[in-house]
Amino acid sequence: MKNSFITRGFNRTQKLGEDFAQQVKSGVIALYGDLGNGKTTFVQGLAKGLGIKSRIISPTFIIIRSYAINRKSVNAKHFYHIDLYRIQSEKDVVGMELLEIIDNPENIVAIEWPEKIEKILPKEVSRIYFKYIDENRREIIIKD
Ligand SMILES: Nc1ncnc2c1ncn2[C@@H]1O[C@H](COP(=O)(O)OP(=O)(O)OP(=O)(O)O)[C@@H](O)[C@H]1O
Ligand SMILES: [Mg+2]
Repeated sequence: MKNSFITRGFNRTQKLGEDFAQQVKSGVIALYGDLGNGKTTFVQGLAKGLGIKSRIISPTFIIIRSYAINRKSVNAKHFYHIDLYRIQSEKDVVGMELLEIIDNPENIVAIEWPEKIEKILPKEVSRIYFKYIDENRREIIIKD
């Protein structure tokens, strides 16, 4: 998969997420980028590509949302969507189930604002960067 994209419109970002799902087996996907740059939009497509039917809403207040994966081609059984916008640092997640979730190789975990827990991310992380170009366009860089 090519690793730098410019998407025009949110549906293209969703499609990119859907395509990206085809190469995801398990592990953490860290989504970097400022407010409104398209991280959640990408996750909506990713979830669709994993065969998840429920509507993906931004987990801004409940920072962790989990979804079941029922797809033979995907090893993982659970998809987690985590938004860390409201936390400050690693200290704030001590004792939370978050640590077990990201360490469990049987999960697929998409994390928005991952820089807040950079120090405790596992070694193997797919990193995706979202940049704002203009109202309708985003640059998305995938580093696997
Ligand atoms: N090419 C594009 N890709 C993604 N989103 C786009 C694009 N063009 C416009 N948008 C709009 O930008 C917004 C992106 O919002 P989204 O919730 O995905 O951002 P986010 O990165 O998750 O922000 P936050 O950090 O607040 O959670 C949506 O309103 C979407 O319609
Ligand atoms: Mg978001």
